[in-house]
Amino acid sequence: MGRIPERVIDEILDKADIESVVGHYVSFTKRSGSNLKGLCPFHSEKTPSFNVNTQKNIYKCFGCGKGGNAINFIMNIESLSYPEAVKFLGARYGIDVPEEDSDYREAGIKQHKDRVKKLLADAEAFYIDEFRNSPDASKARSYAEGRQLDKETCEKFGIGYAPAEWGVLKSFLAKKGYTEDEMKDSGLFTVSREGDKIFELFRGRLMFPIKDAFGNTIAFGGRNLGSELPKYINSPDSAVYKKQDNLYAYNIAKKERSKTLIVVEGYMDVIAMHKAGFSNTVAALGTAFTDSQLRLCARTGNCEEVVFFFDSDAAGQNAALRAIQMMIKYLRRMSGMSLIIKIAKVPGGKDPDEFIRQNGSEAFARVVDSAQTVAEYLAQRAYNDNVDDKGKLDTARYLNDICLYGSWSDDEIARDIIASEASKKLDMRLEVIINRMAGLASNDREREAMMEARGLGRMKEGELDHRRKSGSDEMPQGYYDSQVPPPEYAAPNAPQGESVPNTDPLPFNVDEQTRISQDEIADPLQISLMAHALSLNELLCDKSMVDKEDIVRAGDFTCVNLKKMIREYYEIYTVGQGVSIARFIDVMSKYVLNGRPAEDVILEAMTQCDKYQDSRVLRDMYLAILYKVRLEAMTIKEDDLVRQLSVSTGEDKDKIISELKKIDLYKNKIKDKESRI
Ligand code: UTP
Ligand code: MN
Repeated sequence: MGRIPERVIDEILDKADIESVVGHYVSFTKRSGSNLKGLCPFHSEKTPSFNVNTQKNIYKCFGCGKGGNAINFIMNIESLSYPEAVKFLGARYGIDVPEEDSDYREAGIKQHKDRVKKLLADAEAFYIDEFRNSPDASKARSYAEGRQLDKETCEKFGIGYAPAEWGVLKSFLAKKGYTEDEMKDSGLFTVSREGDKIFELFRGRLMFPIKDAFGNTIAFGGRNLGSELPKYINSPDSAVYKKQDNLYAYNIAKKERSKTLIVVEGYMDVIAMHKAGFSNTVAALGTAFTDSQLRLCARTGNCEEVVFFFDSDAAGQNAALRAIQMMIKYLRRMSGMSLIIKIAKVPGGKDPDEFIRQNGSEAFARVVDSAQTVAEYLAQRAYNDNVDDKGKLDTARYLNDICLYGSWSDDEIARDIIASEASKKLDMRLEVIINRMAGLASNDREREAMMEARGLGRMKEGELDHRRKSGSDEMPQGYYDSQVPPPEYAAPNAPQGESVPNTDPLPFNVDEQTRISQDEIADPLQISLMAHALSLNELLCDKSMVDKEDIVRAGDFTCVNLKKMIREYYEIYTVGQGVSIARFIDVMSKYVLNGRPAEDVILEAMTQCDKYQDSRVLRDMYLAILYKVRLEAMTIKEDDLVRQLSVSTGEDKDKIISELKKIDLYKNKIKDKESRI
């Protein structure tokens, strides 16, 4: 389908005023100023908690949490896709909805992508050649040997070496005729803050090419050879690579056409498993497992079941619960997709690579066979998490977890499996537990509060695990990435000129399934920051209200979805006018935050801001939150550096010390500002 042009969307949001659109389905019982109230059409209630704001052109229900603009109201109430809802409103309000002829544009994009893919293939060949032949790579070769990467394995996985020296890859590619633009888009380089220089992202590392389903190289992972951090660097998302849509070694595994697909965490685990005869193994590329990765699994020839190995550390185990919840939800939506999900565990908290090395492949086959179904795993997990070393069970927490996990599924058998053991252990009737599961299933708020209490609502500090520290999620902006705004910094993502026209058409088919759900975990404080910035809107970039350096930017957020949202916000921002909130809801509706539609979460947080009548009070609240977020980021960075300091020497040490001094200065500056609010 072609795209619906932006101006048409604007016209629809302009003409299809929220009052009349919603008024077809809801009768308003109360009106005060620009606020209307009525009974929510999305959940059953006796007292009205459904609100419409005619000025902002949005709706919001405080009962079930749903909120948005006219388009997504129609999507929700008529069960339509995004383009269908646009056409529906177009027909009702007499607006012609044409589709853009984008063939020409698309042809240009495809050509560019093909060049970037070719560049990546050349880079892979270069890394392989370095690995095999360069004297500089001797350390890499002995490292590989130490990890039992024999010649055949290296060949099969295209193992390479990125030279430690700056500029080598760049000049190799330049000689091959690639432009700097093509290099920038390959994800192999970082760009200096001024945007005029590029540097190799991978240096002195063992390289693992990541391929798409057809075997084209689209990205790389690079492992250190010693102890420098991070252990792995991964290509960022690029024109040709979306981490959330790919699996490591998928191109090999899918050829197996095996009934079972195995998912592990690491590159090295995949390689060890293929060597041990499990060529039906893939890895999730250091992200939280996504629905689109699950879709890939289901698409391999004969796949009937997917067996997951999650790391046994706390981060891995939390990732397991989040992935399970996502998968249950996904499979429920895809009724007709009969994929069996199992969870396996390597004994002794090892990863598969270590286990196979010590115990061999037959022992590992038994581990795979002993995988539990999701229901069994959840039942046991609830017990294990709440029993202490002496065997004493925290019954209240145990029951809570059991009910929470049971509420994810609407399958009677699964609920029964999850509840039955607990019913015996707690000496409680089975129906009581099952009823509670059902009650929770229909109460989003309570469920979310329980997730939060269970530490699953959002990443906790310290749980900002290695996968996040890899640096790969950041816009490559040179040394200072998200965490450390340079002391004298400019806000690079904030609007620069007078007006910033938006030329990009809207991404289409925005519906539940295409929501960007990866890296969705957002801290409440950062959600509040976003809400305050959006509420300030045109005042956010008004010099008389907010200093330039106090304009929130993508780097202030640790949650990738919030980062992306603020970038998109600035893309459509016009100085003096800000952005129409109804319009921005369309942008937000692509994203998920903490398991919920982003627009619901943000609108909810924005209602806090509605109570400030005076915009200066709102501004001060905004600044207070911003400073708090920035100070927190500095503290995390500081802790990190202090940890590095203890293991570094000489020049490195000096660098870290001067870095720490800079942070200290910067912190003082913020504290000073904070005290002046
Ligand atoms: P692990 O830390 O468990 O490493 O990370 P590993 O796979 O066992 O690696 P080896 O055996 O020490 O070489 C699991 C996965 O998480 C991602 C990588 O995809 C890794 O394979 N990761 C890890 C990163 O992206 N960055 C890191 O700094 C660390
Ligand atoms: Mn390992």
